[in-house]
Amino acid sequence: MEAKKDIVLSGIRATGQLHLGNYYGALSKFVRMQEEGKYENFFFVADFHALTTNPDPEALHANVKSIIAEYLAAGLDPEKSTIFVQSDVPEIPEMYLLLNMHVGIGELMRTASFKDKARKMLGIGADAEQSDDNIEREIIGNNSNKRVNAGLLTYPSLMAVDILIHKAKYVPVGKDQEQHLEMTRRFARRFNAFYGVELFPEPQNFDFGGAPVKVPGLDGSGKMGKSEGNCIYLLDDEKTLSKKVMRAVTDGGPQEPNSPMTEPIKNLFTLLKLVSEPEVVKHFSDAYADCSIRYGDLKKQIAEDILKVTLPIRERILAIQNDDAYIARVLRQGAERARASASATLREMRQIMGIRPF
Ligand code: ADP
Ligand code: TRP
Repeated sequence: MEAKKDIVLSGIRATGQLHLGNYYGALSKFVRMQEEGKYENFFFVADFHALTTNPDPEALHANVKSIIAEYLAAGLDPEKSTIFVQSDVPEIPEMYLLLNMHVGIGELMRTASFKDKARKMLGIGADAEQSDDNIEREIIGNNSNKRVNAGLLTYPSLMAVDILIHKAKYVPVGKDQEQHLEMTRRFARRFNAFYGVELFPEPQNFDFGGAPVKVPGLDGSGKMGKSEGNCIYLLDDEKTLSKKVMRAVTDGGPQEPNSPMTEPIKNLFTLLKLVSEPEVVKHFSDAYADCSIRYGDLKKQIAEDILKVTLPIRERILAIQNDDAYIARVLRQGAERARASASATLREMRQIMGIRPF
């Protein structure tokens, strides 16, 4: 009998089109893991998670479709990976109910992503003097019509369920998801210990050696992110993309040989290293070191090399988005396979917890 393969699972929330940060931080890793051929892969679109921030229904529906098209266009293959939408698996909300019986309100309230979003929803600034206690008091005591919904509080339980329901071992995600993953491990350990079983493995993040990439924004600082408004999208056309890159923040240029780089220039080199050949990177690094660099040329090169990656993907995205029948077929097959795996775990979990037929 063939040995059971380790299970890989990851997802992206359906909150907008994918950008270069999502591509290098997540999607390109999904494709690479799939192509290694040694894992059983599950990749999904987290539409329940997107609901925690109350999106417009039309926008949510369109975003699910565009992310599925982006997954497929970037190389995820329904013959090699189970590609599905979270809400197509009704076992997930049932297990979420069961798991929540073992999750503490306190630990959920202390989650960094929850505190950030709750602060935003309540309009509380992120200033240092607002201690966590103050924020918790504000959330519980708040009697204005601003609400922090219970779905947002239980975001980490739902994410743990996504992972545990398939007994995944590896979860390729960016650094910002580490805390959620740590909570998943804690919930798994707790459940196993409470019932004296070995049902859930403890999942780990995955990177192909080296530090996880953080794709910078084009505005001189920080990371590329949907809420930052500094994104290059996989779907940007040539003109839009070139314009964004040519407008990237720079500085006055190196005044002396071998000067240290300022943040905006470091960011441009980070992008260059991601998309360009090593000789090209060397050419511009040397030009920076001897002060002959022209930032216009650097940006033109970056734009050209990003386009080499994104334009073919963009064409495939557009074609797939026009093929509703294909998308429906992929998702039907994905849901079927995801449900088979999920229902097996749920059956065991119900049995363990005492929910049994007569
Ligand atoms: P955003 O930050 O744009 O809202 P998400 O939080 O939906 O993106 O992230 C989806 C996936 O993409 C996660 O695994 C996340 O770690 C990764 N990711 C997002 N932005 C970046 C970035 N700038 N660099 C590297 N990875 C990123
Ligand atoms: N929370 C993840 C993000 O914001 C999305 C996500 C939901 C996820 N469930 C998951 C990622 C399970 C990996 C595994 O990016």
